[in-house]
Amino acid sequence: MHLILILATAAIIQAAVIKEDEVKPCDGIIIDNVYHEIEELKKDIDRPYSLAVAYSTNRVYFSYSLNKDDDVFKTAYVNLNTKEFAHIEGVNNGFAQAVDQTNHDVYIGGSDGIYKYNHKKKSAEFLGVRDADVWHIFFKDVLYYSVFPSQFLFTYINGQSVRYRDLEDTKVDQFIIDNEDVIFFTNTTGLFSQMKGTKEATLYHEFSDVGVRGLATDINGDVFVCLPDGIYKVDKSDVSLRKMLAIDDVFGLAFDNDNNIVYSDATKLIRLKPNKDKTC
Ligand SMILES: *[C@@H]1O[C@H](CO)[C@@H](O)[C@H](O)[C@H]1NC(C)=O
Repeated sequence: MHLILILATAAIIQAAVIKEDEVKPCDGIIIDNVYHEIEELKKDIDRPYSLAVAYSTNRVYFSYSLNKDDDVFKTAYVNLNTKEFAHIEGVNNGFAQAVDQTNHDVYIGGSDGIYKYNHKKKSAEFLGVRDADVWHIFFKDVLYYSVFPSQFLFTYINGQSVRYRDLEDTKVDQFIIDNEDVIFFTNTTGLFSQMKGTKEATLYHEFSDVGVRGLATDINGDVFVCLPDGIYKVDKSDVSLRKMLAIDDVFGLAFDNDNNIVYSDATKLIRLKPNKDKTC
């Protein structure tokens, strides 16, 4: 009897403690035991997608839906230092963004080809592949892009589009290449990795109904995956995804030039900055 009472009291005390924790709001977020400040970069924006940070200017480029109920997309950027927001003119339906960090070039994929941002004119100019509805785009040594609806992956080199050999037998929706030249890609079956120069894919994650919203590499070239319920880190040593952070309805992910997480959800763009002096 005594023991039961003691246990019951302990449970009540514990419940009280938990309750107190719950009512005390935390205005940050804990990632790997480190407190992170939540910085709102842009709000009231519909599903920012395909985020790409240009390290030299610390701008995050992205596209978003202009109107709630049609398929019109616009490329825009937010300067991560000043929070300046601007649209990129000159692109028809800007949907996908990629950055060549070495040459500071920003590429934009639209519904009629690939465009390149002209820093002097502050607008985008048509580059090539007029007949392609560009779905995803990525730069590592050369420009890669996937198209809709075929889901074929191409490279674009010296004005020439060529189907990417390693993945010519498979469909590719999103893709990214990591620091060890491993290409991660998704199709309706799942998330796969494949060493460049080979044709053997490794399955990381099979999809039943949810798809990958975005793939990103951080400044070290490690790969991160956005699923609708949060951000996951790829662990190549045991072919798995580790959930880093739960976010409701996350749409896109990138890393700024200090390796801070920049992500979007259905209505806003957020940056997370570590602060070791704070806790929740
Ligand atoms: C997705 O890619 C994998 C690996 O190449 C392949 O086995 C699978 O058939 C592909 N799924 C679709 C729908 O093309």
